[in-house]
Amino acid sequence: MSEDHLYALRHRHLIGLEDYSGAEIRLILDTADSFKEVIRRPIRKVPALRGKNVVNLFFESSTRTRLSFELAEKQLSADTLNFASTGSSVSKGESLGDTARNIEAMQVDCVVVRHAAAGAPLFLSQCLSNAVVINAGDGAHEHPTQGLLDLLTMRDALGGLEGLKVVLVGDIAHSRVARSNIWGLRKMGARVAVCGPPTLIPVDIEDMGVEVCYRVEDALRDADVVYALRIQLERQHEAFFPSLREYTRLFGIDPERLELAKPDAVVMHPGPINRGVELDSRVADSGRSVILDQVTNGVAVRMAVLYLLNGGGERDAA
Ligand code: CP
Repeated sequence: MSEDHLYALRHRHLIGLEDYSGAEIRLILDTADSFKEVIRRPIRKVPALRGKNVVNLFFESSTRTRLSFELAEKQLSADTLNFASTGSSVSKGESLGDTARNIEAMQVDCVVVRHAAAGAPLFLSQCLSNAVVINAGDGAHEHPTQGLLDLLTMRDALGGLEGLKVVLVGDIAHSRVARSNIWGLRKMGARVAVCGPPTLIPVDIEDMGVEVCYRVEDALRDADVVYALRIQLERQHEAFFPSLREYTRLFGIDPERLELAKPDAVVMHPGPINRGVELDSRVADSGRSVILDQVTNGVAVRMAVLYLLNGGGERDAA
């Protein structure tokens, strides 16, 4: 690790990459690189969080995020509890704050939370006295560990982040993944362009330091990374474009459109993919796709975040 690195994060929680500096993001990515070596061992376990209780509080569906947090916790030797809102006292009307305070009363050290409401992790961090809160995706606000695993995957594939042109295509307005990527990439010196139907591009998005393109052919020219976002039908309460077929015709990433990007450009997607809508299967399954590398890196990044926020960095510095 270089000398200008911080040895611990300034933050107690991870609510969003908006709050984190470039140096802190680099520390998490470098720590994740170290954990990749642990994941490759025959026995994938270190005692870093032995004796810590971590609860995964998922109020929304998840495959990748929930499983990779659970794996990361187990590989760090934490004791893990899984909470799903169905089957819990939430179905009897218990509030989020009361649920969390009851969980903390059981001596939980860290809460990983996914919630449909933007701001739920911040609210929890204000309710809880001692536990660390990690945002696993809140509404259309942020998905910081997804942003971090995406940055790590780009850095692995292309050798660095500074100066890269990253194009985010799709539903920018409803995408917490887009927001975390934009914050993280801008802090690491990458250029970001967003592209999609005008109804799915927030009017003030340029204030985040991104370029806006409404023609995917313009956006993809000279791109290093083509990042297709999922069309989130569950977050759209009105029709933002005439039909899925129309969306695919104008914005879908197919082999012909991919040719407009740089020859070594990589293709990314946060999952789950709507195959044949935002991404053609010939692209999703091609040698240019690093989509499964994103998933693999998710475990290492979540190990790094759990480790650093639960005192790992401070112990090393001592
Ligand atoms: N990328 C992502 O958040 O996937 P899941 O919804 O499966 O966790």
